[in-house]
Amino acid sequence: MEQGLEDYILSHIDAEPASLHELYRDTHLQLLYPRMCSGHLQGRILKMLTRMINPRHVLELGTYSGYSSLCIAEGLTDADAHIHTIEKDDELEDFIRGHFSRSEYGDRITLHIGDVEDVLPTIDGAFDLVFIDANKRHYPHYYEMVMPRVVSGGYIIADNTLWDGKVAEDGVKTDAQTAGILEFNEIVSRESSVEKVILPIRDGLTLIRKK
Ligand SMILES: C[S@@+](CC[C@H](N)C(=O)[O-])C[C@H]1O[C@@H](n2cnc3c(N)ncnc32)[C@H](O)[C@@H]1O
Repeated sequence: MEQGLEDYILSHIDAEPASLHELYRDTHLQLLYPRMCSGHLQGRILKMLTRMINPRHVLELGTYSGYSSLCIAEGLTDADAHIHTIEKDDELEDFIRGHFSRSEYGDRITLHIGDVEDVLPTIDGAFDLVFIDANKRHYPHYYEMVMPRVVSGGYIIADNTLWDGKVAEDGVKTDAQTAGILEFNEIVSRESSVEKVILPIRDGLTLIRKK
């Protein structure tokens, strides 16, 4: 998005809470690949979508620095609502736990350190909302794993589904991550048991509602 337009949007939406601003800053100062962090606009969108969906059981694949987990947690209204978030990079654990413990929403979140593949089967129950944001190569597999665990009327939100516009580029040699996103988008588009829409926000956000 053009910088002037983004600045305009950011100055006309809810402000980024101070604790998240600090987390965003720490992410950039202390971690590799800070671009992966959701940030102000997407964070407010995740919070708003969570408010609208009003889930009790939430699953997040790909915690990174914990920014999106905290935005989703902030949007929870049900007193018993809870998020399970899975991150495979154990070097991030202290950073994430530090920020969760300093947040007023931290007790809404259970952090699992491990691979989605191993951890997901250990989490019981069905989900009202799943945020898919881990390895782009494995999006089709994540979809296959989580769909049976999503309640009827529940939602999946998938991040990066436009993958820097690469999904629509013709004649470009496709890398494994782009291939994963392309296949995921094809599977979802053909799936008659869900309603779906792609929002051209940031790197593309697909909203999927299980019928
Ligand atoms: C794009 S970042 C997540 C960003 C975060 N959700 C946010 O919006 O601020 C993706 C994260 O997924 C993690 N990841 C990748 N493959 C994974 C896997 N198989 N299991 C668990 N985590 C994985 C990466 O280590 C990385 O931290």
